[in-house]
Amino acid sequence: MERFVVRPSGPLSGQVEVFGAKNSVLKLMAATLLATGHHELENVPAITDVTIVRELLEAMGVASSYEGGGTSGRLRLDVPAGVVPVAPYELVEKIRASVVVMGPLLARYGSARMSLPGGDDFGGRPIDMHLRAFEEMGAVFTTEHGYVEGRCDRLVGGRIVFEFPSHTATDNVMMAAVLAKGTTVIENAAREPEVIDLAAMLTGMGARIEGAGTSRIEIEGVEELSPARHRAIADRVEAATFLGAVGLAGGEVELLHARAEHMEMLLEKLAAIGVHCVDTGRGILARASRPLRSVDVSTLPYPGVATDYKPVLVALLSVAEGVAIVSENIFAGRFRYVEELKRMGADIVTKGHHAVVRGVRRLSGAPVRSTDIRAGAALVLAGLVADGVTEVSGAAHIDRGYEDLAGRLRAIGADVRRESE
Ligand code: EPU
Repeated sequence: MERFVVRPSGPLSGQVEVFGAKNSVLKLMAATLLATGHHELENVPAITDVTIVRELLEAMGVASSYEGGGTSGRLRLDVPAGVVPVAPYELVEKIRASVVVMGPLLARYGSARMSLPGGDDFGGRPIDMHLRAFEEMGAVFTTEHGYVEGRCDRLVGGRIVFEFPSHTATDNVMMAAVLAKGTTVIENAAREPEVIDLAAMLTGMGARIEGAGTSRIEIEGVEELSPARHRAIADRVEAATFLGAVGLAGGEVELLHARAEHMEMLLEKLAAIGVHCVDTGRGILARASRPLRSVDVSTLPYPGVATDYKPVLVALLSVAEGVAIVSENIFAGRFRYVEELKRMGADIVTKGHHAVVRGVRRLSGAPVRSTDIRAGAALVLAGLVADGVTEVSGAAHIDRGYEDLAGRLRAIGADVRRESE
């Protein structure tokens, strides 16, 4: 096991490249199951979640190779005509997003067997919306020994109304619908940029999709798709992490490839806090002013402020002037890292899905534990404004979603390194 060791830093300066979006790439990888042949994905970061989904696809019979890293990361996937349509416990347990293989497997092979995902670091991760939608499209499920198994003849399109705009359920149903018989309409669909990215790749493979990025997606099923060649969009959560670093440590940094239009609400919140961002056409130029100011935050589905930004925002607010109320509306249990921030001197009270953050002048370095990808990154950032040394253990959590976070923060002037625990 490794940990991040962080010392007070700043001001930051220079440029940093934002890599491909994890929450897009994982779905793009699953989507390759929809067509036999050789697929090529670009802008695939070297992160553990990509490795785990590769292992998942390899267990099904898909051959893969990866070269480069960062924006040059290229993943080649060779999908055979027949795959083993099973997602085993050992892999699903590591990555709940594995559920996205279900749509492609049902659509293409009429069969999908998957370990039930269970809960994770921020609460239950049910898949009921996915299963209900597939049932409406003609799949029949049985659950036994911790596995859910779906079977169908060709899926049939229909009108799917989501009770909540679930990001991954939208991806999953979209992937199922592209090969279904007839037309599928998804109402109350998720509008995340990653949904648009997946739709773009599927369209490139021959799918007929309209409305991705809006609450109503219409998909006309086709008989067959061809292999994909697609470049993933930049990761807005990674961008948010670097913006948080600038806010905490101060300075001026350009985030190359970051897409301001994918993070409008966040940029508004950051401006109110004191992190000013300009769209440079090739990325975002961020400059922090002092003192940081408190602002209330409520997480919501896109285009609202994403739950994934929240740990970084809470880290900023913990040293901002004033009091902020932060409400979590997506994952009720996503406040665990707050206890770690409090160990660093943050003044935060949580009650249910709300937190009251009273800004303090400075944090104090301490050994803390990363509880999930974003929480871990936020603790590293908090270390930039903490007296003494902050040791963030559980680097593996951070590696799930960030390629070389320490090296890239160092390149813009932060004192962050890794060492063995
Ligand atoms: N939900 C259900 N039933 C379902 C599906 C979802 O009740 O069948 C609930 C969830 O429990 C949650 C809410 O709906 O309360 C939203 O979940 P959603 O399905 O939108 O989340 P997700 O698709 O599982 C993705 C990202 C998360 C990100 C959320 C919210 C991927 C692989 N993951 O999860 O990313 O937090 O959307 O934007 O795309 C991360 O990157 O660290 C991460 C956790």
